[in-house]
Amino acid sequence: NVSTYSFYLNGEWKESKSGQTIDIVSPYRHDVIGKVQAITKEEVDEAVHAAQKAQKGWAEISLQERAKYLYNWADELVRMQSEIAEIIMKEVGKSLKDARNEVVRTADFIRYTVEEALHMNGESMKGDSFPGGSKSKVAIVERVPLGVVLAIPPFNYPVNLAAAKLAPALISGNAVIFKPATQGAISGIKMIEALHQAGIPQGLVNVVTGRGSVIGDYLVEHKGINMISFTGGTNTGTQLAKKAGMIPLVLELGGKDPGIVCEDADLQEAAKHIISGAFSYSGQRCTAIKRVLVHEKVANELVNILKEEVHKLSVGSPEDGCTIVPLIDSKAADFIQILIADALGKGAEVVTGNKREGNLIYPTLLDDVNDTMRVAWEEPFGPVLPIIRVSSDQEAVDIANESEFGLQASVFTKDINKAFSIANKIEVGSVQINGRTERGPDHFPFIGVKGSGMGAQGIRKSIESMTREKVTVLNLQ
Ligand code: G3H
Repeated sequence: NVSTYSFYLNGEWKESKSGQTIDIVSPYRHDVIGKVQAITKEEVDEAVHAAQKAQKGWAEISLQERAKYLYNWADELVRMQSEIAEIIMKEVGKSLKDARNEVVRTADFIRYTVEEALHMNGESMKGDSFPGGSKSKVAIVERVPLGVVLAIPPFNYPVNLAAAKLAPALISGNAVIFKPATQGAISGIKMIEALHQAGIPQGLVNVVTGRGSVIGDYLVEHKGINMISFTGGTNTGTQLAKKAGMIPLVLELGGKDPGIVCEDADLQEAAKHIISGAFSYSGQRCTAIKRVLVHEKVANELVNILKEEVHKLSVGSPEDGCTIVPLIDSKAADFIQILIADALGKGAEVVTGNKREGNLIYPTLLDDVNDTMRVAWEEPFGPVLPIIRVSSDQEAVDIANESEFGLQASVFTKDINKAFSIANKIEVGSVQINGRTERGPDHFPFIGVKGSGMGAQGIRKSIESMTREKVTVLNLQ
């Protein structure tokens, strides 16, 4: 009695003409928890046409009217919180508490997005500000929608990172083609059931599920798509950027966020943030702390505290509310093992961890990591934290910047001037002073540089990225 989920096309739930489905296997139960449709290219075309058609009318109705649908969606998500959280837990192995929080965060995100959009105004400009310009020329600069937005979120926030693309797209008058991560598709479909219940006009949002090999490139290269918002791995994002046409892209990709611990840091506090930053949801967050760069004078003490803190982490099933849960698939766990083995072969020390049961990797601390080891540079997306000892703040900055990634960094010090000096030198989107790396609160700009992405998210930035400026010039008599 495994449920088969339909895809959402032009306001209707449908089975694909392909007659094929994809099994969604729970990462910790290892059973098939549902099947999603493997749709065809023709069905992608239908979805894009439906979106193009619906978008015109949607952009014409008032902002207040669009707001009503989104507020209803947020209310509906809260009403369905338990049902959706249960699916998130089973599908991506996130603890029930975190899954419930994800749903609430999503409803809050949608509401704030509406409120932000309601308070965004255009501007007017006078012609005579420029030499030779006329006083009788006045420009009205407004933001208009781009058309059809392709939203591709990752598995780790199958509801929140999907809505973080859909809500700004919709409130600003766009239609959406939503391609959920395959592992995460059922959660995404549930989220769209809430939007359907909220009465969203037909065709405005279409959910396309299917094999990346069949519809992935086809979607990205589709002429009917006017903007792509993608969150996922750096390799996929780089390929996507090569294939997409001349359309705006926002890419939120991988990271290798350093936690820089200066010799004057409050080590207990720093350790608390580092552990939470590195190991929440088994480190399956783009913003996880993925390396510690600690001053050698305090390294032993920090390592001891980190070890104690790691031992307090609960390990096991998301159904028991554990922090360290089985990884999304065995390939992910294999990769962590490869990184650990490489580091150990080159002289790193296991402080704790390095134990595996199926997809479950115990939280692992590696000390004496150096720049010859893959784990110093590559993103594990799992619960392994390398510790690199440095002899100065400058060395920490240099190692931080040598990375191909540039998402966030944490700096732990009691000296605010030092904190700023280090923050100014680090090539990342955001620097957290005395706190863990994280995306939220969701109205802050969220930016990845270098291999971590392009463009900006965060509620206002996302709205801006899904609209363009349009100028109407009045030539007065
Ligand atoms: O995985 C990427 C997410 O944007 C991280 O979000 O910092 O709230 O966990 P988070």
